[in-house]
Amino acid sequence: MINTLVFGKNGQLGRSLAACSAQFPETTVQFLDRRACDLSKPAKITALIDLYRPDVIINAAAYTAVDQAENEPDLAHKINCDAVQTMAERAAGLSIPLIHVSTDYVFDGQAEKPYRETYTVAPLGVYGATKLAGEEAVRAISDKHLILRTSWVYSPFGKNFVKTMLRLLSEKTEIGVVDDQQGCPTSALDLATAILRILPDVTRGDFTQFGTYHLVSDTQMTWCAFTREIQAKATKLLGKEWSGAACEIKAATSAQFPTVAQRPAYSVMSTEKFMTHFGFGLPQFDRSLSAVLQKLAGGA
Ligand SMILES: NC(=O)c1ccc[n+]([C@@H]2O[C@H](COP(=O)([O-])OP(=O)(O)OC[C@H]3O[C@@H](n4cnc5c(N)ncnc54)[C@H](OP(=O)(O)O)[C@@H]3O)[C@@H](O)[C@H]2O)c1
Repeated sequence: MINTLVFGKNGQLGRSLAACSAQFPETTVQFLDRRACDLSKPAKITALIDLYRPDVIINAAAYTAVDQAENEPDLAHKINCDAVQTMAERAAGLSIPLIHVSTDYVFDGQAEKPYRETYTVAPLGVYGATKLAGEEAVRAISDKHLILRTSWVYSPFGKNFVKTMLRLLSEKTEIGVVDDQQGCPTSALDLATAILRILPDVTRGDFTQFGTYHLVSDTQMTWCAFTREIQAKATKLLGKEWSGAACEIKAATSAQFPTVAQRPAYSVMSTEKFMTHFGFGLPQFDRSLSAVLQKLAGGA
């Protein structure tokens, strides 16, 4: 049995790990929520890791409010860096692997081809900067780490772009959606499945492929194109009578939707390194989006 401890029980990734864990009977997964361990007060982290004595730690928790982070840099730093540093220290002390999830927002979005893991980081805002600081702490402290950078996460759970767009499409006759930011929409269910799938490898004593990896879906698009995919697939699933089927989707610029924090214009990441080392990539975007929409239609 692989005894796994997850921080971030109620987030998209945490709930996806819970939903997918039954497919991995060789793994037992224990989850900690904010009540059990408030990451803004890292003192408890070490005690809880010692209590659970896991074979591997997954950090699925983060301060993810990208705009709010601009006004709460200290809190974002505590959760995205200080708490992660404490996890890394205890993981290193116990000589167990730490799987830490990070973000495309460590990049500035100026690249013209998919970002590789070695590309220069240059976060545009507080969220990205604090996530990068967390990565750096993990790399400095724990030899046995996997940092998995992902992007544009959606799922049947919590707040996310797919759920927001389904609501807007069904409420409005016309919506404008940003068409000048490119990224890879990634299902948290796929991420969770991939993480659980690599645990037997990662927890083997002779595993040597620790490091930083990009892990995103195989398809790049803009938010506007993503919305059109959501509409097309939801209409196929729910029928033309679905109230969102007729909503007109108009391409907009980022300037038309100013946000407190600047987003990278291009955050497509290459997953070649992950695929080479682990021998698989995430499922096709089409299948993944359909699976999430089906779960939402079924009342997930
Ligand atoms: N969402 C995206 O589009 C995206 C894109 C790129 C990378 N990522 C990364 O992917 C990972 C998973 O993201 P996600 O979308 O699953 O995030 P999420 O849905 O926002 O969930 C974040 C989790 O962190 C927990 N958390 C926040 N502050 C906490 C605190 N002070 N103490 C304890 N727990 C706290 C939340 O607890 P509560 O439920 O109690 O609030 C929640 O369980 C994160 O590392 C994120 O940076 C996400």
